[in-house]
Amino acid sequence: MADVKLDIRPVGAALGAEIRGVDLNHLRDDEFAAIEQAFADHLVVFFPEQDLTPDGHREFAARFGELEVINGLKKLDDQHPEIVVLDDAVTPAADVWHTDVTYRESPPITAILHMVECPPVGGDTMWINLYQAYETLSPPMKEMLEGCTAVHVNRYGAGNHEHPVVRVHPVTGRKSLYVNRIFASHIRQLSRPESRVLLEFLYRWCEQSRFSVRYRWSPGGVGMWDNRCTLHSVVNDWSGSRIIQRITVLGDKPTGLGEPRWPKFEPNANGASDFYDKNYPF
Ligand SMILES: [Fe+2]
Repeated sequence: MADVKLDIRPVGAALGAEIRGVDLNHLRDDEFAAIEQAFADHLVVFFPEQDLTPDGHREFAARFGELEVINGLKKLDDQHPEIVVLDDAVTPAADVWHTDVTYRESPPITAILHMVECPPVGGDTMWINLYQAYETLSPPMKEMLEGCTAVHVNRYGAGNHEHPVVRVHPVTGRKSLYVNRIFASHIRQLSRPESRVLLEFLYRWCEQSRFSVRYRWSPGGVGMWDNRCTLHSVVNDWSGSRIIQRITVLGDKPTGLGEPRWPKFEPNANGASDFYDKNYPF
């Protein structure tokens, strides 16, 4: 445990906390250690009323790992290629529950947002605690899912990857569900009809309000989420300007509880029709 005591106020019972009493532009190592602990405990943390500079944003993010430089999105300036500017006038609202870019072998561990311009009403963001979504399943369901993997696909051809359906967090050691509506295509060890129904069940299970938090941003606020054990979605209900400066921290490769317990499902192995399978890439 860190020695320093931060002012930490939970904003929901399932996840999320506001942290006050620190200046992210000038962070001491003991303060950072306390923030890391709060991040592990609360999954999503917010720092209201920060006067964060682009350099401060980058230095804070770099404490968590290697920073991503994303081509194809608007950057703040040449001096800060890691800072992406998300402007609601040009960037579609991400209003479907998801975990970021899980079609990659190593999805990001976190995104750190600086809310530069906040609409007067609306534009909240919501998150889901995927530890709780896993922990509340029945023992037989947990056991089956722990032996399965899911293929995550970018539908615009930017790649795909197979990940465990139940992920073990590299820091906390806790298990969480690890599928999301945008990228999970199918569970590899099941037939397509089984996979389709089970994934839809898991999405609905995860997306219950009891596992969620909804956060109202304020101008100058900073927020970050653990992309390894949460879903997020913006509440697409605002008018006016909503501008965010974002830095993404590159991640580790998701690990489960060992190798998949069953092989890839082969529809023709038992003489069954492949009608349901032939339109899928795997
Ligand atoms: Fe996202």
